[in-house]
Amino acid sequence: MLDLGSGVGFWAEYLAQRFGKVIAIEASRPLYEAMAARCSQYANATLLNDDVMAFEPSDRYSMIFLGGMLMYLNESDVIELLERVTHFLEPGGIVLCRESTVRSGTLTRQGDYQVVYRSVQTYSSLFSKCGLSVDHVELNTPYFLMQMGCEFIKKWKAIVPGPLQIIPLVGRLTYALLRAGGAGLRAYPTPWGSAFRS
Ligand SMILES: C[S@@+](CC[C@H](N)C(=O)[O-])C[C@H]1O[C@@H](n2cnc3c(N)ncnc32)[C@H](O)[C@@H]1O
Repeated sequence: MLDLGSGVGFWAEYLAQRFGKVIAIEASRPLYEAMAARCSQYANATLLNDDVMAFEPSDRYSMIFLGGMLMYLNESDVIELLERVTHFLEPGGIVLCRESTVRSGTLTRQGDYQVVYRSVQTYSSLFSKCGLSVDHVELNTPYFLMQMGCEFIKKWKAIVPGPLQIIPLVGRLTYALLRAGGAGLRAYPTPWGSAFRS
C-alpha cells in the first residue's frame, strides 16, 4: 500500500503492521527522519523523503492512504496526483482519504500556514473527475469530540475567573463526558457515508 504525505509515520507504522508492503512518502526532512526512526524495525516499509508530486508509481497497490495531505495541494495538483496514482490501484483497491473538511465549498488559507479546506462534496467531485466513486464517508468522531472539548475549555477559561477554573478537574470531566457522548454518537448511522473505489 501507498501512504502519501506520511508525516512522522504514525500511520505508516500502523499500516506496516497490517500490510505486506508499505511505501511511505514524506517531503519534510525532519518529519521523514522521525518516521525513519519510528519505522526502522519494519523491513516491509520503504520510506522516501520526496515530493509526492514527483513520485512515479511502479507497483500495484491495494490501498492508497491520503492522511491530511490533499489540503496542501491545489486543485490541479490533487487531480494530477490522483490520476497518476489511482492508475496503479489493484482491481478492487481503495483510496482512503482522511482530510479536514468544511461544511460547504472551499476555504483557502493564505499566509504562513497555507492550506485548502474542502467540503466532502468538493472532494467527491474532484475524485469523480479522476474516475473514482465515493464508497463511504465517515465523520472522524474522536477528532470532532476533541475539537468540541477544546472549544468548551477555551470558553470556560474566557468566562470563569482564573482561581475558579479548576482546569485539571473540568478538563477530566469534559474528557469523560465527551467519551461517553462519543459512544452514543457512534450508535447513529452516519449521514455521510471512507473509501473511494476505482
Ligand atoms: C497533516 S500531515 C499528516 C501526516 C500523516 N499522514 C497523518 O495522517 O498523521 C500532512 C503531511 O503531508 C506532507 N506533505 C504535504 N505536501 C506534500 C508533498 N507534496 N509531498 C510529500 N509530503 C507532503 C506534510 O509535510 C505533512 O507531513
